[in-house]
Amino acid sequence: MKNYFLTVLLVFGLYCNAQKFEGLAQTPPLGWNSWNTFATNINEELVKDIADKFVELGLKDAGYEYIVLDDGWMAKERDTEGNLVADPIKFPNGMKALANYIHSKGLKFGLYNCAGSKTCAGYPGSRGYEYQDARLYASWHIDYLKYDWCNTEKLKAEGAYITMRDALKEAKRPIVFSICEWGDNEPWKWAKDVGHLWRVTGDIINCWDCEIGHGSWSSFGVWKIINMRKDIRTFAGPGHWNDFDMMEVGNGMTDAEDRSHFAMWTMLASPLIMGNDLRNASKETIKTLVNKEVIAVNQDKLGIQGFRFSNENNLEIWIKPLANDEWAMTFVNMSDTITTINFNWNKHDIGDNLNNRFLNVKNIIYKVRDLYNHKDLGTTSRNLKAEIDSHDVLMLRLSK
Ligand code: GLA
Repeated sequence: MKNYFLTVLLVFGLYCNAQKFEGLAQTPPLGWNSWNTFATNINEELVKDIADKFVELGLKDAGYEYIVLDDGWMAKERDTEGNLVADPIKFPNGMKALANYIHSKGLKFGLYNCAGSKTCAGYPGSRGYEYQDARLYASWHIDYLKYDWCNTEKLKAEGAYITMRDALKEAKRPIVFSICEWGDNEPWKWAKDVGHLWRVTGDIINCWDCEIGHGSWSSFGVWKIINMRKDIRTFAGPGHWNDFDMMEVGNGMTDAEDRSHFAMWTMLASPLIMGNDLRNASKETIKTLVNKEVIAVNQDKLGIQGFRFSNENNLEIWIKPLANDEWAMTFVNMSDTITTINFNWNKHDIGDNLNNRFLNVKNIIYKVRDLYNHKDLGTTSRNLKAEIDSHDVLMLRLSK
């Protein structure tokens, strides 16, 4: 009998270990990551400034929570006991002190590492040290781990990410696990129980629709990423998100393009991780980033990823079902000139077959709200008329 109970306990224990932390990202994570602007040029002052800016600029109030240090935070070597060490020049007070600072602002702190022997920028990777590293992150009070995929010769992605998930679970601190293997091994098919978000493509770059080759890999503009991965919406939902990569809002595209990029990331239920320098961001950039009406579409509790409803004459229309039978709808002007729309609601069957949700304009009159201009635009009982600038959006919420 004793043996029986021991076996049951053991099996139960193993089963418990083999789970990610649940309930950590019921809506897509909101935050900031250092990589897109700073690459490995990061330090303690910068991170503290960013935390201060979260509060001063209203980003915290708008819901942004995680401050994530990407590649380059470590010293080039582990210590004699095999522990990772924060770069002593960049982070003279270490990571625990930085975590305390960030937590004192009511925010959360994330770090980066990699499943391979070295990170993409050549710092010590976690391969073979997963449990030791997870314990260290927990002891530093880290809340989020982005886990990359460089230098992973002969590793299998699913197994490697499961090992780190189990290591985090055993370290007992709830840590959001952000899988970053660039979509190479179709993580949307296996990562629902492994991580809370997974990158779906190679790295983003700050352009509307370009692709920049770097030899063996490419970086992709906003619309390249969207078009590459528009068909995997069925795999996203509360606690497990398709991650369309850290945003490039404020990093050189026009304000209109930034609005569209932001609108699309919210429609796609992607994590909204800012990637710009918040210390000198323009008013227009911040206005876009703190738009609570737009963010609410991303954070809707149904967690349904939106999709392209139509694409005609350089006008893309995307829709996303929301809780309480509401809908988000985004018109994007893909052309180089201003466009005029005259949209007759009764002539379109708007619905989401996958989720069995339909906009019933024949029987119900919906109110139409413009989320960027914070204006009511009447109802679906009459045509929607508007002008949209080149590469700009009209983003709407329809409610009863
Ligand atoms: C990869 C990731 C990026 C970034 C860099 C850091 O390219 O996809 O997001 O983390 O590594 O080296």
